[in-house]
Amino acid sequence: MTATAPVNPALSQVLEFVDEHRQQFQEDLTELLRIPSVSADSKFRGDVRKAAEWLVEHIKQIGLKVELIETGGHPLVYAESPPVPDAPIALVYGHYDVQPPDPLNEWTSPPFEPTERDGNLYARGASDDKGQMLTHVKSLQAWSHAAKKLPLQVKLLIEGEEEVGSEHLEAFVSKNTKRLACDCVVISDTAQFAPGLPAITYGLRGLAYFELKLIGPSQDLHSGVFGGGVTNPANTLCKILAAIVDDKGHIQVPGFYDAVEPLTDKERAQWRALPFDQAHFVKQLGVNGVTGEEGFSTLERRWARPTFDISGLTSGYQGEGAKTVLPARASAKFSFRLVPKQDPKRIAQGLRKLLEPLVPPGIRMELNEHHGAPGIAFPMESPYLRAAADAIETGFGARPVFMREGGSIPIVNKFAEILKAEVLLVGWGQNDDNLHSPNEKFSLADFQRGIRASAALWDRLAAVPRG
Ligand code: BES
Ligand code: MN
Ligand code: MN
Repeated sequence: MTATAPVNPALSQVLEFVDEHRQQFQEDLTELLRIPSVSADSKFRGDVRKAAEWLVEHIKQIGLKVELIETGGHPLVYAESPPVPDAPIALVYGHYDVQPPDPLNEWTSPPFEPTERDGNLYARGASDDKGQMLTHVKSLQAWSHAAKKLPLQVKLLIEGEEEVGSEHLEAFVSKNTKRLACDCVVISDTAQFAPGLPAITYGLRGLAYFELKLIGPSQDLHSGVFGGGVTNPANTLCKILAAIVDDKGHIQVPGFYDAVEPLTDKERAQWRALPFDQAHFVKQLGVNGVTGEEGFSTLERRWARPTFDISGLTSGYQGEGAKTVLPARASAKFSFRLVPKQDPKRIAQGLRKLLEPLVPPGIRMELNEHHGAPGIAFPMESPYLRAAADAIETGFGARPVFMREGGSIPIVNKFAEILKAEVLLVGWGQNDDNLHSPNEKFSLADFQRGIRASAALWDRLAAVPRG
């Protein structure tokens, strides 16, 4: 099968439909992007629900059976196409929730007023994950209109809590294994390797996220009157955080590397062969160089080595000018990215062991564990992966490369464990889509190619013998 001559005549009609409705599909995405479904901030709870309701309505109009499912948190959207005997079942997973848009003043156009510039659609959630997720909804629409029926059963599971750790999804998956039964899970929530070079991702890092609070005197003090005689929580925070990682990028948490497996020579060689341009990478990020764990390349550091990153620091006077104060409190939010086999629970235990002795008299420490997820790496060979590679070639006109990613999708492990299904991470994003940052965007060409690839995927997956 080549990019220009799909084998199945039904598929060519479907692809034609996709191309004819390009404008309409773009408008539908724009509508969804206008809804500020920020899952982390309770101010937006109603809007998160609105996004779920929009999806239910939209999917209903396509002619699929769909429902909104309540959880203890933000609702799920679940849909199914009719069963197809003897064909495999695919479960599409995606998320309609988005990250907070802050810092707002760094956006060129407002985050929830989708704006087209240079072939990209700019909005919070454009790439992560509304735009990518919607490619599958649109391909299903195209199949049901242009071919009347799908060649396999597709189930859709779209959640509203991915960006806050998928807290309620695991219980739903565990309780609904029959309903969710499938042969493979399809997820578009990752990136291509580069423009023109699509990818299949076979590994993700996990995550262990913490909030550390250091509590000192009962209120802020004059730093001249009391400084030197009272332990300063901000000084202590700096000292404690600095003890977590050494100058070579080695994390000092006891037992941290126990389960970490070394990269194989084969994998390292494959990654060295990828067209990664270090100079371009540095320039794109606006930095004058990069650092990281000694002995590893940038791709290895990002995809396959565990790391420590502070995400937020708070203490003392932040206003204009100088204020001589000894702050009463200091806090930090930080996380470790984990590789397969590292257990977030054990990392948390080790972290406590490292930090507790570092807390000096005069300071009380509170360490709160937020969400955690283990990392994962899949085998690179399977009939489903070959089907996905063919479909990507149809949609993007290029064969995908195999790569890993540094980000996390917490529920992926559970799909593999609980549903015993193969997971296909077929991402349509780009590395410079500004996920979680100001000016998030999604290439409209990638949106279109993603819909075409998704449409071809149903055709290719249907041909995989069930085993
Ligand atoms: N889609 C991302 C994860 C991602 C991005 C994977 C790019 C690979 C490439 C996802 O929405 C995300 O941001 N996940 C969070 C998970 C966390 C909030 C539990 C992450 O990785 O920080
Ligand atoms: Mn995502
Ligand atoms: Mn995200």
